[in-house]
Amino acid sequence: MLATLLERDTGVALPMSRALVERYGGELRFPKRSPCVFANFVSSVDGIVSYDEPGIERAREVSAGHAADRFMLALLRAAADAVIVGAGTLRKEPGVWTAASVAPDLADDFADLRARLHLRPHPTTILVTSSGEADASLPVFRGEAPVVIATTREGARRAGSLPNARAEIVGDSGPLRPRALIDLAVRESAGGRILTEGGPTLFGQFLQDGVIDELFLTIAPRLAGRSRDKRRLALVEGTAFTPSGSPRGKLLSLKLADEYLFARYALRDGGARGEG
Ligand SMILES: NC(=O)c1ccc[n+]([C@@H]2O[C@H](COP(=O)([O-])OP(=O)(O)OC[C@H]3O[C@@H](n4cnc5c(N)ncnc54)[C@H](OP(=O)(O)O)[C@@H]3O)[C@@H](O)[C@H]2O)c1
Repeated sequence: MLATLLERDTGVALPMSRALVERYGGELRFPKRSPCVFANFVSSVDGIVSYDEPGIERAREVSAGHAADRFMLALLRAAADAVIVGAGTLRKEPGVWTAASVAPDLADDFADLRARLHLRPHPTTILVTSSGEADASLPVFRGEAPVVIATTREGARRAGSLPNARAEIVGDSGPLRPRALIDLAVRESAGGRILTEGGPTLFGQFLQDGVIDELFLTIAPRLAGRSRDKRRLALVEGTAFTPSGSPRGKLLSLKLADEYLFARYALRDGGARGEG
């Protein structure tokens, strides 16, 4: 159960069941704007999202699989028309991007929420890759959620034979433009609530192009550290901002479960300018 420390989000409340409202510690509201692009990550106190070493690279090593973080993952997936995921994350997190896969105990409540929102049973998974290289045996290619591979001309040749997936050419060569990826997600899911779970490289590009409306960030009560040998991955990779060009957050909501903090920021300031 999340305890609410601050709540100043506005917008339209999702038609959540009483069980979901109780677990979330109140209503979850989203702006009416479409598309509305929101990101969800878990980081250590020092901003690390992956220990980035074989066997300990997954997000759950940061979150320690905390139930409240899994609930947040599930709730945001349940609210989304589409979930955009980079190929680096797909390779390290061999799962499926549905609500029930991370919170099976509340599967009926999430299914009910999607039905009330007139959404398809699962958000469309949009996998982003220039190379088109993906392991056909991964669970996402056997799951119930529709899968679209957003890729290049060359990538489509490689990804064309993946099961339960369709390749869409979004650009001649990579990196693919964030706005084109959002447009694809809107088109493919026939909806405007677009979640991205990163990873950090894709998120950096989205920030640079100013397409992220909101960031949901779970801060796990641990410090990962980094060294020359063990660099780890931070929340934003591959993009660096100047102090004056850094995207700024307006804190919309702050919740607490055990020692975990759940922050929600509005990010859209139109002024983000990355370098590199
Ligand atoms: N803590 C958390 O909440 C969280 C969330 C997500 C991920 N993670 C962790 O982050 C790590 C992965 O990090 P990452 O930075 O490698 O992840 P990523 O951003 O998911 O993947 C990078 C890859 O995605 C593709 N890509 C990204 N942007 C693209 C674009 N604009 N156009 C075309 N392709 C694009 C490229 O794939 P190709 O090489 O195929 O072209 C690129 O190599 C994993 O350890 C994962 O567990 C943690």
